[in-house]
Amino acid sequence: MKSMKDSLLDRRSIRRYEREAISDEQMELIYEAIRNTPTSYNGQQFSVIDITDQEIKEQIYALTNQKQIKTCNHFLLFLIDYNKISLISEAKAIDMPPFQHTADGLIVGVVDASLAMMSAVAMAESLGLGTCPIGYARTVAPEALSTLMKLPEKTFIVCGLAIGVPRELPDLKPKQPQSLVIHKDHYRQDKEEMVKELKEYDETISEYNRTREGSKSSNDWASHIVGYYREAMNYRILRALQRRGFDVKH
Ligand SMILES: Cc1cc2nc3c(=O)[nH]c(=O)nc-3n(C[C@H](O)[C@H](O)[C@H](O)COP(=O)(O)O)c2cc1C
Repeated sequence: MKSMKDSLLDRRSIRRYEREAISDEQMELIYEAIRNTPTSYNGQQFSVIDITDQEIKEQIYALTNQKQIKTCNHFLLFLIDYNKISLISEAKAIDMPPFQHTADGLIVGVVDASLAMMSAVAMAESLGLGTCPIGYARTVAPEALSTLMKLPEKTFIVCGLAIGVPRELPDLKPKQPQSLVIHKDHYRQDKEEMVKELKEYDETISEYNRTREGSKSSNDWASHIVGYYREAMNYRILRALQRRGFDVKH
């Protein structure tokens, strides 16, 4: 097993996998790591769907166009889940407020599901497996995928995670320097210096994209990311949330 230090510092997204299956023992450890995720109030406002059926993976691939989904060994979907607490509240005649209709209710669910995904990533990495989060599982066809997964009301897909035996070792992607990520005692006030460091990082990414192993590009960081945001402006997540029983009002 890899050390936690190596698991986190050598992690990179893996998009090509061997046909080899992940063992039951390895999946058991990933499930247990997911189960032991810290969650808001210990409410565990999340669930995971583990998809191994090739036909279903192909169907999700058809909806999302993300090749990793059909080639990975396990595809996990991380959901916000207020269905379970609703079920037990009803069974015990506890009057449950519509927490899922609040912005904080939504954030609580997204945080819990995201932390659960990171638990899976950390455990998979320590087992020498490769992972790739798939946000398109939330954004491109939320209603069709929810129907395919037979999701009950008050559940919502936050993110997918492809897991498999790695068939590639892409270069590690340079990340923002610590000075831009970790603010000490309060948010940095030296805007000009921040812009200088951001431009240096932007150049680092351009250089990485020009010289990395495999497919190269002339992308810089800022325009590339803003381009993603531009594309994402077309997603209709609020409507999808409302249809799934999250009518966020305040
Ligand atoms: C929430 C989330 C959603 C993502 N969605 C996708 C995706 O749909 N397809 C994909 O190929 N990579 C996806 N990624 C992977 C990112 O592109 C990747 O983490 C980022 O480029 C940094 O590279 P690294 O993971 O190798 O450090 C996603 C990552 C996160 C955290």
